[in-house]
Amino acid sequence: MENKVREVFKTRLGFLLIAAGCAVGIGNVWRFPFIVGQYGGAYFVLIYLFFLITLGIPLLTVELAIGRASRSSMAYCYENLESKGSKWHLNKWWQFSGNYFLMAFYVVVAGWMLYYFLAFTFGEIPANYTRDHAAEQFEGLISSPITMLLCVIALVILAFAIVAFGVVKGVERYTKPLMIILIVLLAFMAGRSCTLDGFSEGISFYLKPDYSKLEGNWGEAIWAAMGQAFFTLSVGFGAIAIFGSYMSEKHKILNEAIFIALFDTIIAILAGFIIFPACFTYGVEPDAGPNLLFMTMTVVFSNMAFGNIWGALFFLFMLIAALSTMIAVFESTIAGSMELLNISRLKAVICNFVIIMGLCLLPLLGFNVLSDVHILSENSGILDFFDFLVSNNIMPIGSIVFVLFVCSRTGMQWDKFITQCNIGKGFNISSKFYYYFKYVLTTIVIVVLAIGYYKLFGDALLNLFK
Ligand code: ALA
Repeated sequence: MENKVREVFKTRLGFLLIAAGCAVGIGNVWRFPFIVGQYGGAYFVLIYLFFLITLGIPLLTVELAIGRASRSSMAYCYENLESKGSKWHLNKWWQFSGNYFLMAFYVVVAGWMLYYFLAFTFGEIPANYTRDHAAEQFEGLISSPITMLLCVIALVILAFAIVAFGVVKGVERYTKPLMIILIVLLAFMAGRSCTLDGFSEGISFYLKPDYSKLEGNWGEAIWAAMGQAFFTLSVGFGAIAIFGSYMSEKHKILNEAIFIALFDTIIAILAGFIIFPACFTYGVEPDAGPNLLFMTMTVVFSNMAFGNIWGALFFLFMLIAALSTMIAVFESTIAGSMELLNISRLKAVICNFVIIMGLCLLPLLGFNVLSDVHILSENSGILDFFDFLVSNNIMPIGSIVFVLFVCSRTGMQWDKFITQCNIGKGFNISSKFYYYFKYVLTTIVIVVLAIGYYKLFGDALLNLFK
């Protein structure tokens, strides 16, 4: 199926910053620093870089090429490229669900960021907060569905309003300056971090190679590194493919994939430069998960001179990173709905707004009204389950299908994939990589997935057979 009029990004910088904005998000500014500190600092960064090069960049090229060759969203990208009678297009349902489930929990965490940004901006966080105060405040937030819902609605309306204007007049026009503000804020805060007393202690906690944290923990660290590579690059569910479909043919796909992966990694590493030195300067132990951002950092800022300004800037930075991903993924679902249902952009925005708001109620209420619902383990709620569904299932499995699709004779076909990648200026991809993509890459994903499943469900399975 062909599209009547397809927009193409006005500038290359627009395309690069928007695709990078799709990648840069909560995964970089919150998940990455925390898991690096947890799994052995620089050693974990090396494992992560291994996955970035062996899986991340190839998967970005696959999605961008599918998007650019099909000039369609996930609704028809398979149909436009597959042979008659094949069933690759059924994967579109897997991808649509990936986009929706990701956004369902993502907007909740982004809503917390908005709350803290506003709290710092309006001086709601008094000086010299203790950990107990910060914990009480975070508990207060997550036990109030109304406060969370108001934050989520405000952000979702903002993101959809931008997407409603279209690819060039909405997504490109607003994401480009947002990403530039993000870079400026990051450089400013990371630069200031270097002047803090706890800089070297913080950086050594964050990046010093610590083998003891990896010993006996290899499987878990490898699984976490691969999950992080998928999550942070937003691969496997079609959100990157949609930007491929708006790309010009001036540059080769490998160049753009390398830029996106590099940009994403630099932002992730620098985010840790802001967080850890600040923790050590103010004598606050870095904590895990949501606590690191919403409790630890609140204590840190409230104890700093001009803490409200620094806190507001820090959460603004986090918020922009999250918003850039929301805009990108909403563009993917809206373009998908417009093409699938043959409806206008406005109608698609309204339908998607209703779907996202309905679906996000589950993780949102999981912290209060539905707090008795534990799906994966006693300590995890609905939000963790959605994260598991997307990061550990939909993204890796979707990526395998994408790779098999470009390698298959009934799919896009390897020669056409290589030709598509090598249109324009830049680095070529050699057709000799066929065996690597088809066998090595897919095997790495399957093995690491199996390790992860064993880690999560192995004990329960073993108990069943005892
Ligand atoms: N890639 C997005 C992030 O890192 C999902 O937040």
